[in-house]
Amino acid sequence: MLQQSVRREQEYPQQSSAQHEPWKEKVVYQIFPRSFQDSNGDGSGDLPGIVSRLDYIRSIGVDTIWLSPVYESPRVDQGYDIRNHREIDPLMGTMEDWEELLREMHARGMDLWMDLVLNHTSDQHRWFRQSRSSTDNPYRDYYIWRPAEPGGEPPNNWTSYLGGSAWEYDEATGEYYLRLYNKRQPDLNWDNPKVREEIQGLVRYWLDKGVDGFRLDAINVVSKDHRLPDTDESKLEGSGYKHFKNDPHVHQYLRELNEKGFSHKEGTVTVGEASMVSMEDVARYTDPDRKELSMIFMMESPSIGTDPNDSFKEREWKLPELKEIVARWEKELLNRGWFGLFASNHDHPRMVSSFGHDGKYRVESAKMLATLVHTLWGTPFIYQGEEIGMTNSPFESVDQLDDQMALHYYDSRTKRGEDAKEVESRVLAGTRDHARTPMQWTDEEQAGFTSGEAKPWMPVNPNYRGINVQAQENDPDSILNYYRKLIALRREHADVIVHGEYASLLEEHEQVFAYVRRNEQRQGLMLLNFSEKEAEFELPEDIGVCLESAYRLLGNYPAEEGAEEADMGKDSLSRTKGNVVPHVLRPYEALIIGGLKPAP
Ligand code: GLC
Repeated sequence: MLQQSVRREQEYPQQSSAQHEPWKEKVVYQIFPRSFQDSNGDGSGDLPGIVSRLDYIRSIGVDTIWLSPVYESPRVDQGYDIRNHREIDPLMGTMEDWEELLREMHARGMDLWMDLVLNHTSDQHRWFRQSRSSTDNPYRDYYIWRPAEPGGEPPNNWTSYLGGSAWEYDEATGEYYLRLYNKRQPDLNWDNPKVREEIQGLVRYWLDKGVDGFRLDAINVVSKDHRLPDTDESKLEGSGYKHFKNDPHVHQYLRELNEKGFSHKEGTVTVGEASMVSMEDVARYTDPDRKELSMIFMMESPSIGTDPNDSFKEREWKLPELKEIVARWEKELLNRGWFGLFASNHDHPRMVSSFGHDGKYRVESAKMLATLVHTLWGTPFIYQGEEIGMTNSPFESVDQLDDQMALHYYDSRTKRGEDAKEVESRVLAGTRDHARTPMQWTDEEQAGFTSGEAKPWMPVNPNYRGINVQAQENDPDSILNYYRKLIALRREHADVIVHGEYASLLEEHEQVFAYVRRNEQRQGLMLLNFSEKEAEFELPEDIGVCLESAYRLLGNYPAEEGAEEADMGKDSLSRTKGNVVPHVLRPYEALIIGGLKPAP
């Protein structure tokens, strides 16, 4: 037994103290501002609305806010199409409002991370208006322009993420420009040093204004293979990625941006959105010695239920696959990189509807999913409304949608002759708008999101009378109060939960996700039932922890009757002594068992 424990320690080397930077202990809350809180009755959320809710956000235990774009924008893509990076969109408020937000956040000990969209701009941006005006304009080379192929065809066969060619023909100068997203979101040319200088200047501008970090949109597609070769893929949306994702130059550009931008203020934290990455790519982006980014998101797990060749097509998946993804990231990146963890954001349907059960077991499954995200190695991100278990909306027709990806997909697929009803049902299930309905604050009209005459820009989910913040504040067993306990627990046991190693158990079990987090002194065991059925399981005899001295730290069902309860002292979490490791988990049950000593 002893020998086995020793071997295990060697297999999982201890982290160096250099990797215990304080920012790794952060818990981040993402705000999609248009849907968070309206303060002026126009039906759209705004900056003063966020200020009025800061005490609430802080009360969850988070210390950082990632604010989705609030810059001036024509809002073809909800602000991810920026017209002016240095101004606030009037829909959101004024620069004074933004400054007040930052001041009020800092006064509460919270950090603000702005969302920087640097792969493309709006076609209304001053740079693009200049660029498209003539072939010899000084801004021409800020974007990627190419003449047509003989016969007028686009320069290559890449397709945009919205479907159709990634190239847009522009009458004014008779050339094509590249746009991986909407035709109104032209891609910037990062190979042009002037563009990179502009971007570095933007980063310094916001750092000088006092921001603490950035989320970097679509950062691994910014550098394209300058030969712009045809692709051999035949995906209808987003083909060509081999030639623009994780291009070798992106690393050089990020190091430069770090040196001339992020390093402008000490302690700046960055998180990159980067899908389709190998473990080597992640290590390259986030290895502290390389000085590129602090972390990138683990996007592989939230996308597990989506067909990689068709983002609106569901894909069947089994729990062992999810465990494999998590174990790969947790183990392969230890000591080499860092990543952000999330189960929902503004680009995905609601977490509890996709991965849990949004009916009978909504409460249990929302807590279970939160337990996973908050007990892994990596930085947890909460998306607004997730903490109260908000669900998908009952959209009935594409006419109710705003999501440009969903609408373009519907158009292009139906034009190709696909069955309209079938395409519509796919789009209604997968639209990003599920995440973008207004935050549900109270059971009053419009869920307390807006008090004005104007209707909310996106209808409130009709289930707001049952699912809202106010109701959950008053219920000690609510999802909201579970998040509070979970985050407090993560902080209290940061040595294990934030910094400890990860070891997976029961890798083939199709219902139970079980793993151990540990350091030399202490360990934690997590047991999660991912199904609506009871799940039986048997832990292997040697899990390297001593179960006799285990106690329950947190669970989403009441503790077994008769179990001894003890007060943990400085916090209010209750714990149960005795035999706390069950052999059966109830539907969507989650258990955190802690205080374990290594097996003798
Ligand atoms: C990112 C954003 C998404 C946006 C896209 C284009 O994926 O998260 O909302 O549509 O980039 O900027």
